[in-house]
Amino acid sequence: MRVPPAIEARRLHKWYGDVHAVDAVNLTIDEGEVFCLLGPNGAGKSTTVEILEGHRPRSSGEVSVLGYDPQTGGRPFRERIGIVLQQQAVEDVLTVREALELYASMFPKQRSVDELIDVVGLRPKAKRRIRTLSGGQRRRLELALGMVGDPDVLFLDEPTTGFDPSARRQAWTVVEGLSSLGKTVLLTTHYMDEAQNLADRVAVISAGNIIAEGTPATVGGRGSAASRISFRVSANRPFDLPDDLSVDRTEDGELTVTTTDPTRDLYRLTGWALDAGFNLDRLEVRQPSLEDVYLELIGEEAGE
Ligand SMILES: Nc1ncnc2c1ncn2[C@@H]1O[C@H](COP(=O)(O)OP(=O)(O)O)[C@@H](O)[C@H]1O
Ligand SMILES: [Mg+2]
Repeated sequence: MRVPPAIEARRLHKWYGDVHAVDAVNLTIDEGEVFCLLGPNGAGKSTTVEILEGHRPRSSGEVSVLGYDPQTGGRPFRERIGIVLQQQAVEDVLTVREALELYASMFPKQRSVDELIDVVGLRPKAKRRIRTLSGGQRRRLELALGMVGDPDVLFLDEPTTGFDPSARRQAWTVVEGLSSLGKTVLLTTHYMDEAQNLADRVAVISAGNIIAEGTPATVGGRGSAASRISFRVSANRPFDLPDDLSVDRTEDGELTVTTTDPTRDLYRLTGWALDAGFNLDRLEVRQPSLEDVYLELIGEEAGE
């Protein structure tokens, strides 16, 4: 029997007055997947996630999370999900440990508070009041609060915004740990490296529409997109490049070949250089990064 998806949205719409924040979004996220919604500010990421969490009513469409309609699932639904909102309100007179214990007491299933304090790296701050934490430490606490009920589905809305690089890596390790426990994670981010490192699948959302979906390696045609070979020729005499290569030259002397067959073109190029006795300096082959693909998609959508 096929396992039903953990999260499903069909033709989901959200209007705020006359702002069409979510426009016919379809999503299917399987149990155990880490799924990443990528998009610029105002794209509709938070609205989509908050509807799936049951924090916001939808205007129309069908939504199912763990088989519940988030709008009517009530306590049984809320006990099985974890939430880290983009803007979170936490009682900041409590200590880190007190807040975790309080949240834990609201769930039938719980993760060990001690273990979570270590998982998010807040051991030295466990007895401190929340209001004395730095922004990054507070966000790590919020991540721990989202996990304390041992949720089957975790929603993370920009979980690492404002983190320094090492805190970000640590948060990634936490998310990877959840995924290895078979939990489903839906996260939003505008950090491409975060999506590249964490996500099994990504969807790019712009102006309320999903404009591309796939794995980080293939989304937006990335898997089949042209590569760029760049190099310089150090030669003490004039030269002609092989004519079966189409080469562009930039002002500073860098040469580039854009190709969908880098194996063949690199072979031609290095063969030509070896035969002629030239060196190819700073030779590099680059495939479009997730960021290249993303910017192209977003640019298109903005009508550029
Ligand atoms: N509570 C609200 N009332 C009115 N408009 C809103 C509200 N929340 C978000 N919006 C608008 O909806 C659109 C999507 O916002 P949001 O979902 O927060 O995007 P993102 O999380 O991708 O930045 C934006 O145009 C935003 O201004
Ligand atoms: Mg947002």
